[in-house]
Amino acid sequence: MIKKIQFDVDKYNFINIFEKYFDEKLYKLHSKLVFERKFSETAGGTEEFEVLTKTYDKLITKPIFKKLWVSFVVDVVKPYFDNRPILIQKLPSFRIFPSKHSVKYVNKITEGYNKHLDSEPPYYHPEFETNFWLPLIECDFLNDFYYHDLEKDWYRRADTRIDELFVFGSGIVHGNRVHNESSNTRCSLDFKALALDDYDTNLLTDQIVLKRGKKFKQKEWYSTKHYYMEI
Ligand SMILES: [Fe+2]
Repeated sequence: MIKKIQFDVDKYNFINIFEKYFDEKLYKLHSKLVFERKFSETAGGTEEFEVLTKTYDKLITKPIFKKLWVSFVVDVVKPYFDNRPILIQKLPSFRIFPSKHSVKYVNKITEGYNKHLDSEPPYYHPEFETNFWLPLIECDFLNDFYYHDLEKDWYRRADTRIDELFVFGSGIVHGNRVHNESSNTRCSLDFKALALDDYDTNLLTDQIVLKRGKKFKQKEWYSTKHYYMEI
């Protein structure tokens, strides 16, 4: 299941918030910021970059961002679930894929891509979640998000504009190139959501999930206590 949802990018201008914060165009971030290494090999992709930790502390967890996030959820995400009550990630994940940088977050690279399902280790995401991905730059084929198109049985780019939200089911294999050969840095937001009715604790286990260096049981982590908020 694949869908693109259009939204008012002037109203929900995450790009502007981030560009003001960095005082730089997002696609040029590699020329402004120092990324610790050229190659990252972690479960969380780029989560290890110090700049990301800082961006969460100084921007994403602050009221100005949270307010916009919640309105976006109500106006853009909830209609996807027919405006029923939903569970959604408390805050979206912000990713930076720096130009000429490599990020590996799967055990085995497939044809140069980080192809994976989020239900696989080490994420252990519940299969009742739907995935949402939101580009914060106009991507090119070198730095785009890629997924397996089941209809045509080929691995293709999401080709999603900055005023679109890319939606895909938990069974869709996805993952970008390991090497960003583009001259542009890609920034994006992503998050998981589900209709509250689809939350099923019977599908959650005692499997240990590693989150920010801490261990949680899968059934503890994927709950409103830690991961979701209800809207
Ligand atoms: Fe993923």
